[in-house]
Amino acid sequence: MLYHIWTVGCQMNKADSERIATALERLGLRPTSDKENADVIVLNSCSVRRSAEDRVLSKLGSLKPLKRARPEMIVALAGCMVGNDIASLREKLPFVDVFLKPQEGDELLRLVIERRSCSPPTFLSAVKDRSGDFEQADGIADCVEEDAQSTSDKLVSEPTRWVPIIYGCDNFCSYCIVPFRRGRERSRSPEDILAEIREMVQRGATEVTLLGQNVDSYGHDLPDKPDLADLLQLVDDVDGLYRVRFLTSHPKDMSDKLIDAVARLPKVCEYINLPVQSGDDTILKAMKRRYTVEEYRNLVRRIRTRIPDVSLSTDLIVGFPGETREQFESSYRLLEEIRFDAVHVAAYSPRPGTAAARLPDDVAAEEKKDRLQRVEELQERVATENNAALLGKIVQVLVEGKNKGKWQGRTRTNKLVFFQSDDNWLGRLALVAIEKTGPWSLQGSETGETRVERAQTPLSIGREGEG
Ligand code: SAM
Ligand code: SF4
Ligand code: F3S
Repeated sequence: MLYHIWTVGCQMNKADSERIATALERLGLRPTSDKENADVIVLNSCSVRRSAEDRVLSKLGSLKPLKRARPEMIVALAGCMVGNDIASLREKLPFVDVFLKPQEGDELLRLVIERRSCSPPTFLSAVKDRSGDFEQADGIADCVEEDAQSTSDKLVSEPTRWVPIIYGCDNFCSYCIVPFRRGRERSRSPEDILAEIREMVQRGATEVTLLGQNVDSYGHDLPDKPDLADLLQLVDDVDGLYRVRFLTSHPKDMSDKLIDAVARLPKVCEYINLPVQSGDDTILKAMKRRYTVEEYRNLVRRIRTRIPDVSLSTDLIVGFPGETREQFESSYRLLEEIRFDAVHVAAYSPRPGTAAARLPDDVAAEEKKDRLQRVEELQERVATENNAALLGKIVQVLVEGKNKGKWQGRTRTNKLVFFQSDDNWLGRLALVAIEKTGPWSLQGSETGETRVERAQTPLSIGREGEG
């Protein structure tokens, strides 16, 4: 039997898709990128904005004729579009065989087992781990199609792996659907996480990213209340691993202890994703973010003082209900001031059931588009300038795969780098001299290999005193 998975949404969704793939492979299924021939098709969906849902619905629509021609094919809708009201989804999408909430997959496995006429208890116990989640990855990432462009690039996700450490979110930001779809926060035990990471390293992973919607609140629900800094210390000690990252931090929860761990631990990369969402206090309050712009600024100052070579990225929403031109300008000025390396900007999209959905969506679509565009233009300029500072420097690149004949990887600060070489660099740490920079990526020549976890990046190859 063949399966095909299509994923939209965040890294957590990608990690979930890997787990679904693992579970299916344990049942003997094989991946295919050709959905026409698949026996099982899983669409792992996202609900964060209306546009994400529309993409999923259009993809589902394209499956209808396939399902009509081959009724025995199993179509599953998974992920954040599957809320509590499965009955109404079933009514709207009668050709979908099974609906799976995030982190739930038993029903799909049961259906596959039924079709294969196997004995359920043997299979189910073989594919489930102690906590009832899907058991861990088994070299399956390469079958996951993240989106239409990445289908064929099988090598890319192998050396770098996602590890969910805390599920759900308790924050209930007023615009956000995630807590309603992913439930309350549940941390995995450090033992469980470490066992999974060791297994990944044995299979060739050299970098892991610890995931949580609010990763900084890791551990508060566990018996000994370990925090993210404690966990980073443990992961840093795993032999064979070169790099550790974590996503996503909430500004109200980022402690000095955590900042110190990033500064101190050699494998923990100096890259922090710190969503600000708005540069205006009234909007932040309406968003229920629970920090002020000044508190955010102070946090950035503390991070930059303790980790001078840190790279910061952020998320921003434009056109939140009631956001005036002036309030938007405050966000714009904050971005100009902080000069993030990356900004993920989105136009506000009302999500049914959230607190903000009760407010009038009163910023016109054209105005939202205009604000979005202004942020994108600003960020292109800032990223161009930030990256230009790396020209002539040597950076350490963990190579993730090949793209259009070039090796592709990332610096510790998460910048995309391309270089050419006939050697096999997959999963290795290359030193690359940067010869060309742009807003979204860097290009250079490989000058050697390193095993040093924290190279003093970037290294200068210019005249003495430079860089
Ligand atoms: N937990 C992270 C945080 O605290 O920012 C982000 C998780 S959310 C899945 C990813 C991003 O989607 C958010 O940072 C926000 O910018 C954006 N987002 C969430 N809800 C949105 C909405 N209703 N409209 C537009 N963008 C939204
Ligand atoms: Fe959504 Fe806020 Fe939770 Fe992030 S912290 S997932 S934006 S509710
Ligand atoms: Fe989307 Fe769910 Fe992630 S709504 S962004 S897939 S947590």
